[in-house]
Amino acid sequence: MCRQTTKSGYRLQVAVAAVGLCLVLASLAACGKASPGPAVQAEAPVQIRLSAKEREHLRAGMRTYLESVQAIVDALPKNKMAVASASARKSGMGAVNDVSVSTATKLPPEFILLSMDTHQKFDDLARAAAETGRKGVVLDHLRDILANCTACHATYRIAPE
Ligand code: HEC
Repeated sequence: MCRQTTKSGYRLQVAVAAVGLCLVLASLAACGKASPGPAVQAEAPVQIRLSAKEREHLRAGMRTYLESVQAIVDALPKNKMAVASASARKSGMGAVNDVSVSTATKLPPEFILLSMDTHQKFDDLARAAAETGRKGVVLDHLRDILANCTACHATYRIAPE
């Protein structure tokens, strides 16, 4: 009797879980259709057409970003705040090289804004690391930076002209 109850209780749980999963999947599908915003789109990303030189320049900047993130994550557990700060500066506004007018016209304004915002956030992290010396505060900044990385990568691809 007791076993019977347990079994049917279990079956009920499975049924409830299955219905729940269906609801979640259905709402996800609905969300996908209802949200065409660029940052969350699952469809084709926006293509940015650039020359070979411009593509390499963009990629080099990206690798600098990644190196900064790596160095920051390496420095934080060791409480090396000066190192974290200096590593962040390498991707700050000071790292923005002159972008020619012709390149700028190929970049969507939102892309430029997100890019500038990311450089500024690295400067913010550099300042926070130097001034507060608190890991939690620095991590909050890093979280915001990484949100920019993933948002942009979800939206844009580069392609040959
Ligand atoms: C404003 C948009 C934007 C932001 C912000 C951004 N990226 Fe990128 N990233 C791109 C694009 C576009 C590509 C090229 C994707 C492709 O191959 O089509 C790219 C490529 C890369 C690559 C590959 C580089 C290579 O050599 O091929 C790395 C690594 C990378 N990003 C790291 C980062 C990191 C780390 C951050 C955040 C700190 C970041 N990116 C923020 C747009 C962005």
